[in-house]
Amino acid sequence: MAIYLSPSMLSIDFTKVGEQLKEVEQAGTPYIHLDVMDGVFVPNISFGIPVIKGIRKASDMFFDAHLMIVEPERYVQQFRDAGADMINFHVEATKDPAGCIAKIKETGAKAGITIKPKTPIEEIKPYLKDLDMVLVMTVEPGFGGQKFMEDQVDKIYQLAKWKKELGLSYDIEVDGGITLDNVRTVLDAGANVIVAGSAVFGKESVAEAAKAFMEIFKEYEA
Ligand code: DX5
Ligand code: ZN
Repeated sequence: MAIYLSPSMLSIDFTKVGEQLKEVEQAGTPYIHLDVMDGVFVPNISFGIPVIKGIRKASDMFFDAHLMIVEPERYVQQFRDAGADMINFHVEATKDPAGCIAKIKETGAKAGITIKPKTPIEEIKPYLKDLDMVLVMTVEPGFGGQKFMEDQVDKIYQLAKWKKELGLSYDIEVDGGITLDNVRTVLDAGANVIVAGSAVFGKESVAEAAKAFMEIFKEYEA
């Protein structure tokens, strides 16, 4: 199975956004992870629709939007119009996850559900058949540079098991505290989209950092 790196723009050098996006793209990274925070769902505020619209002009990468906002269904169309290819929302952030998935799909974007560390994985089981992606948080959402929560890895195994049993093909993305030292733990469990913020954009050479992850992926793609 193909494995993708999705570097998180939250850790980019915002004085060099265009340049650093090109660097990871030229290193062979197909995805860019866009963390949108509203200061309500999570205790932090990042960037939103106008920024995504702006960088869309500078990049052909697959825009993997991770919405950490309340009532995400209200903004689906606007994120799609801004250029999001994938719209991931938190199951904890809406009263109507099924309606939100349907809305995302109507726009032509791919649909993903994200789950916080304290939320049981069973909560998203009813929606799996309609999803393109499930995003497992391995930190409490809100900030980059936190420590990887190993106790979340069981959720990845469970999702991989369900995928097989139910004959589905959703991607399993993992986000939070991923480094070159622990990425094999989530790959072993069945993850195939890997978010890395500080472990890519926090490094001296972002291209080298991205390539180091992709070298490890090759062990699993054989
Ligand atoms: C946290 C965000 C993450 C964050 C990851 O709420 O969802 O995507 O940027 O950053 P690192 O890889 O540094 O933990
Ligand atoms: Zn994220």
